[in-house]
Amino acid sequence: MNYTYLDCLALFGVGGAHPGGLQLTKKILDEEKISSDTILLDAGCGTGQTAAYLAQQFGSSVSALDNSSIMVEKAQQRFSSLNLPIEAKHGDTENLPYPDKHFDMALSESVLSFTNVASAIRELKRVLKPNGRLFAIETVLEQTISEEERSSIVDFYRFPQLLTEDEWLTAFRKAGFQQVDITKYQPTLDQVDEQNAADYSLSESIDDALLEILEKHKEIMQRNKDKLGFRIFRCS
Ligand SMILES: C[S@@+](CC[C@H](N)C(=O)[O-])C[C@H]1O[C@@H](n2cnc3c(N)ncnc32)[C@H](O)[C@@H]1O
Repeated sequence: MNYTYLDCLALFGVGGAHPGGLQLTKKILDEEKISSDTILLDAGCGTGQTAAYLAQQFGSSVSALDNSSIMVEKAQQRFSSLNLPIEAKHGDTENLPYPDKHFDMALSESVLSFTNVASAIRELKRVLKPNGRLFAIETVLEQTISEEERSSIVDFYRFPQLLTEDEWLTAFRKAGFQQVDITKYQPTLDQVDEQNAADYSLSESIDDALLEILEKHKEIMQRNKDKLGFRIFRCS
C-alpha cells in the first residue's frame, strides 16, 4: 500500500501533530477569554488532544471533526476514556456539518495546508459567529524555491497549495476576516519529537513503510528548514 504522510500520523495516532504540540496550543489559549459558555470547534482534530484539553480545562462545549476515520476513532476513544461529552465527527473542513454562526472559536492546527484553503477558510468563517475567532497553525513558504523543490514538498504532503505568509493573509481576508494577527513559530525537530513523545495511539499493525515516511518527513523538514516556516494566524 502507498501510505500518505497523513495515513502515517493516523496509524501512529500522533497526538498534538502540529508545530509546537499541545505546549504551543496551551500558550495560545492562555491568552484568550474562554469559559464554560464558549462554543468551540477543533477542525481536523486528529486524535483529539486539543479538543480534550479544551473541554477539561475550560468546561467548554467542544465539537471535534476529522476526515480520517482512523483519527475519528482514536479521538472518540480518548473522549470516552476521559468521560468527556465530545462527539468525534467524521467530516470535511471544506464542507462543515454545522449551522451558520454557531461557534465562538475554531481551531485548525496544521490542517488547512492539507485542504483547499479557500474553501476551508470560507467554511470556517461561515460556522463562526460574527465576532468569532479562528486560530490556524500553518506551514508557510519563507523564500522562493525551484519548481522541483516545491513539487517534492507538495507531492510528499499532498498539499493542494504551498502559501507564503502574504498569500495566507490574502486568503483569510478574502473569506471575510478583518483582523489577522500573525505570529512566527519555528520549532526544532527535536522539540517536535519531545512534545509528541507521550501521546501516541498506535494501530495494531504498523508497516515498515510508515517508518520510512516518518524518516522522509524529517529529511524534508531538515533540507527545507530555511524555506519552510510556521505561523499562528489569529483571525477575527
Ligand atoms: C497534521 S494533522 C493535525 C491533527 C491535529 N490538529 C493535531 O494537531 O494533532 C492533520 C489532520 O487534519 C486532518 N484533515 C486533513 N484534511 C482534512 C479535511 N479536509 N477535513 C477534515 N480533516 C482533515 C487529517 O486527517 C489529520 O488528522
